[in-house]
Amino acid sequence: MRPPRLMKVFVTRRIPPEGRAALARAADCEVEEWDSDEPIPSQELERGVTGAHGLLCLLSDRVDKRLLEAAGANLKVISTLSVGVDHLALDEIKKRGIRVGYTPDVLTDATAELAVSLLLTTCRRLPEAIEEVKNGGWTSWKPMWMCGYGLSQSTVGIVGLGRIGQAVAQRLKPFGVQRFLYAGRQPRPQEAAALQAEFVSIPQLAAESDFVIVACSLTPATKGLCNKEFFQQMKTTAVFVNISRGDVVNQDDLYQALASGQIAAAGLDVTTPEPLPTDHPLLTLKNCVILPHIGSATHRTRNTMSLLAANNLLAGLRGEPMPSELKL
Ligand code: NDP
Ligand code: DGY
Repeated sequence: MRPPRLMKVFVTRRIPPEGRAALARAADCEVEEWDSDEPIPSQELERGVTGAHGLLCLLSDRVDKRLLEAAGANLKVISTLSVGVDHLALDEIKKRGIRVGYTPDVLTDATAELAVSLLLTTCRRLPEAIEEVKNGGWTSWKPMWMCGYGLSQSTVGIVGLGRIGQAVAQRLKPFGVQRFLYAGRQPRPQEAAALQAEFVSIPQLAAESDFVIVACSLTPATKGLCNKEFFQQMKTTAVFVNISRGDVVNQDDLYQALASGQIAAAGLDVTTPEPLPTDHPLLTLKNCVILPHIGSATHRTRNTMSLLAANNLLAGLRGEPMPSELKL
């Protein structure tokens, strides 16, 4: 009897060991991997995906119509090593009947922890303070030097009270936050109840929050949501944090708001583009803290994400329910 044909799987990057091992154990798949920590060039991606039945990709891989056409009719499953799916052309994917796996929940804690770290780093001016120790700017304990803004008795506004938004709020509550506001497409009374969070419009959230945390998904509706008008509505003492996607923010408008003192400070884990060019104007500002998209970057979380992404892919290829399938 002839052995059944192997399903071709293409993986666009070297992924953490648990996911890699799960794919290697799959006797029904022939796995090819871009064996590097650096992004795959687009030509190599097109070559690798051609004829593949399954694609395991990253948020930095743009899966658009052109790539789907290069892949051809074999492609049945796309599994992304991320909860965000804004890099996938979902309409085109749906049209072709391709199933999509993603990695919600398993990265919520790590990302919320990073959001809180970034918020505290930004509002208490830690990078500036550390620099002053090194450069001799620390000459004495001074009553008005290096003052920032604290969370106690504050109002925190969360754009997108989803999994991560809620986890951030839960972690901030013990710091003595007085009031939580949130904005989204619709109220989420159940999720908001534990935090006594109030559903408000975007302008009200901007105007009343001492800390704004953006934790929504990037969609056509949220692209550029935090723009000049948004920053003008914010308090001059307010701190802005974005852990969602860079495109939710108009970065030129954010630069103006920070440089002119329209808002106090900003902390960004995500930018446009990524990486942010080292000569970008935002990097010249002392009141802007920028991290290289490390929200989910703990060893355990990335390993768990890789296993979930591998299991999503394998289940999809075998026609089984995926552990985490995106409803299209
Ligand atoms: P969820 O789907 O649980 O939450 C997404 C939230 O976005 C929902 O609360 C939703 O609000 C909100 N949203 C959608 N459309 C709008 C809109 N038009 N206006 C305001 N809010 C809106 O996802 P997660 O919490 O798991 O992840 C959120 C995002 O965080 C991901 O999509 C990803 O981009 C980013 N992320 C970044 C990481 C990092 O490393 N920095 C790590 C992980 C995720 P509602 O449905 O109530 O309207
Ligand atoms: C995601 O999963 O969408 C993050 O941006 C990276 O973990």
